[in-house]
Amino acid sequence: MTPFELLKVVHVSSAVLSIGGFALRGYWMLRGNELLQRRMAKTLPHIVDTLLLGSAIAMLFIWQTSPFSLDWLTAKVLALLLYIGLGMVALRFGKARVVRITAWLLALAVAAYIVSVALSKSALGFFA
Ligand code: HEM
Repeated sequence: MTPFELLKVVHVSSAVLSIGGFALRGYWMLRGNELLQRRMAKTLPHIVDTLLLGSAIAMLFIWQTSPFSLDWLTAKVLALLLYIGLGMVALRFGKARVVRITAWLLALAVAAYIVSVALSKSALGFFA
């Protein structure tokens, strides 16, 4: 296995954990489950997301390119910022329940778009 392939395995695994974990925390938020307040539920996402982004940066380093060199990479970066912002509204800053739920659903839709961009290597993703 080449270093790039290894990084890609780390990247894809942490992407699955990141989105799966976010979906689960949103479900806990909906149900008022206190597992959401556990230390683990707060720290683990940071570790997973650091691996996700770190592996992306390392792959771009191997490619000797920037995140803005290709349309689909730029789209991923911008969509990632949106995903993070919506996630913060859903799990932290949203006051009204309807706002939290809407932000959670939109964040999941953005995550699906990011995966579709990753698989198609096109900024249009599932809109193509
Ligand atoms: C939530 C955020 C992200 C998710 C869910 C995600 C998901 C994925 C997935 C599923 C793949 C594998 C695609 C394949 O089978 O070829 C992939 C590959 C890749 N991603 Fe991400 N990614 C995310 C963020 C990023 C970011 C921010 C960057 C950098 C700007 C990035 C750069 C890459 C690169 C360079 C590859 C390798 C492409 C290749 O092998 O040709 N990803 N990503």
